[in-house]
Amino acid sequence: MDVHHIRAQFPGLRDKTFLDAACVSLAPRVAIEAVEEFLHMALCGPERSATLHHITMDEKRAQARREAARLINASEDEIALVESTTHGLSLAAQALPLERGDRVMLCDLEFLELALPWCQLSERIGIEIDVVSHREGAVRVQDIADGITGKTKVVAISSVQWTNGFRCDLGALSTLCRDRGVWLVVDAIQQLGAIPIDVRQTPVDILACGGHKWLNAPFGAGFLYIRRERLPDLRPPMAGYLSVEPPPGGWGEYFQTPDITPVRAYRFTTEARQYEIGGTGNYPGTIGLAASLRLINELGPSRLAEHIFRLTDHLIAGLRTLGIRLVTPVDRQYRSGIITFTVGPVRENVELMEYLLDHRVCVSVRYTSRVGGVRASCHFYNSLEDLDRLLNLVDVWRRRR
Ligand SMILES: Cc1ncc(COP(=O)(O)O)c(C=O)c1O
Repeated sequence: MDVHHIRAQFPGLRDKTFLDAACVSLAPRVAIEAVEEFLHMALCGPERSATLHHITMDEKRAQARREAARLINASEDEIALVESTTHGLSLAAQALPLERGDRVMLCDLEFLELALPWCQLSERIGIEIDVVSHREGAVRVQDIADGITGKTKVVAISSVQWTNGFRCDLGALSTLCRDRGVWLVVDAIQQLGAIPIDVRQTPVDILACGGHKWLNAPFGAGFLYIRRERLPDLRPPMAGYLSVEPPPGGWGEYFQTPDITPVRAYRFTTEARQYEIGGTGNYPGTIGLAASLRLINELGPSRLAEHIFRLTDHLIAGLRTLGIRLVTPVDRQYRSGIITFTVGPVRENVELMEYLLDHRVCVSVRYTSRVGGVRASCHFYNSLEDLDRLLNLVDVWRRRR
């Protein structure tokens, strides 16, 4: 893979060593150009009428659905465009047919956004939440299996954990949830764009993914996947024009029909787009997302993952040579683009992070449930030289102390 060619898409890399896609990534040129083209259209309104302008905007937005479906090997009718992972996860929680006493299982490494919708449902309708504890930063499928009871309706999990990059065994979890008749809800924001997921090979019921991390999308836009067979079992929490089948001649013609009335027997869609905002949506966000996704799809998600594994191998080897403790479980099967390490208590990790930031090396310090440290994100635009620079600075910082 020609990283130098890819780096030309990311001018934000020129003045820094950027290793923080797990926080907010840099956007590629193609995404910014697509948004600029849209903004120009908004400025000038080149279409013959405002109605056509609206239709053009909708067509541009729809490309994000297509590219998201391509990324995870889903169908377009299984994809809804949402603002963020949080938005997608909240919609999922609201749509699931849950009742008082039903149980939802999470693990203790999760980001708060994965837990909040269930905590709200716990207060509102009395669902119960079971929390599986990690073991040295790993979440074991066997522990989840052991915790499932007849009342368990949902397992909700991040396929890659945000503090240490632990990637769960999604295949085993998928089989477990299907065997036990439990909904599997996946937060994929720390995985997709780095390590591929194929929802035909590894079926999940619902998957939410925001665009601004490993997908490199510029503004608040992401997608929600719902497996087609599961769509009829859900109750969409909102309704808008995307919830209904479009009229035969299109909306433009419909609004010119004198005898239409607002209250009538609409034909509601069974497609996932019924989960979209449904009014006039976030066009710049989704247009940027479409371009960022297209770039990843064209570069080839599997090739990108191979490169990322090469980077993380290199970083792990370098940290070991320096005698630095790795927080990330290093087995490739459980690895992602995130490598977290620790040089001591939180204060020292923050000091090191500040030193690295002073030297234009972008990393974060993150913790949850006592798992965390300095988090370095190795993305497909990174090179081995980026990691050597990080390792060299870590070494210098330690020697100076
Ligand atoms: C695992 C995980 N889920 C969700 C989020 C929030 O993403 P969004 O802003 O797309 O809702 C984050 C952000 O750090 C995250 O790490």
